[in-house]
Amino acid sequence: MSARYDQIGRTYAKKRQPDPRIAAQIEAALGDVRSVVNVGAGTGSYEPTTVDGVAIEPSAVMISQRPPTAFPVIQARAEKLPLADRCVDAVMAVMTLHHWSDVALGLTEMQRVARRTVMIMTCDPDHEGFWLDDYLPGRRDLDQNDMPSLDWIENQFGSIEVQTIPVPFDCEDGFYGAYWRRPAAYLDPSVRDSISVFSRLDDVDYGLASLQSDLETGLWESRYGSVREHETLDVGYRLLIARIN
Ligand SMILES: C[S@@+](CC[C@H](N)C(=O)[O-])C[C@H]1O[C@@H](n2cnc3c(N)ncnc32)[C@H](O)[C@@H]1O
Repeated sequence: MSARYDQIGRTYAKKRQPDPRIAAQIEAALGDVRSVVNVGAGTGSYEPTTVDGVAIEPSAVMISQRPPTAFPVIQARAEKLPLADRCVDAVMAVMTLHHWSDVALGLTEMQRVARRTVMIMTCDPDHEGFWLDDYLPGRRDLDQNDMPSLDWIENQFGSIEVQTIPVPFDCEDGFYGAYWRRPAAYLDPSVRDSISVFSRLDDVDYGLASLQSDLETGLWESRYGSVREHETLDVGYRLLIARIN
């Protein structure tokens, strides 16, 4: 089974470790569940340690980076979960929806398998205002194509609770918005290698050269330096919680 992350995921675990503050928010949202399926589980980030669990992941390269403490994994896709109806308390999916070929089918599968809760961490494609988008103007179009809107997701479930995920200034999970207070990090190819946006955009060289120049001349500081006043920032990440009856 070939998968995008077999190409772009080779160094994923180096920069994409779970951030403990986001992990705490996820565990609180899951509540007192005893069994969890993690769909699009990648290298195992955010899998709760005190429950029985199973991971679903299509990419062999990502599976090969899972630590021994992670859930046992089945190589499969969200669109066809090889699991029985209502077999676990909760089904979670973290930063993976935008990679699925059929999100509606994947969400239906999550609802079929969960007895109590479906929990999704995703990015709100309608969120505006993150300074990095000024350098990568194609990013919002990309996400509006690939990321389902929060309204659309809510329609799939009937209703959902939406929580903002405040991203800490020293976030340990190197996703797109993680380095909002460390702008030079985006100039490091090893940081970009773990962020799929950079492989999905056609041309990032011009934007990165502009960022480098603006950091050198102080223009970045004068335009965006006020972000340094914050400890956390809303850069569009959301935790969605659907309760199943
Ligand atoms: C950005 S990674 C997130 C991994 C992990 N959840 C995390 O938070 O680090 C996206 C993951 O989704 C997986 N994926 C892609 N298409 C998928 C599909 N159709 N069903 C399930 N997972 C998929 C990729 O292989 C990759 O491991």
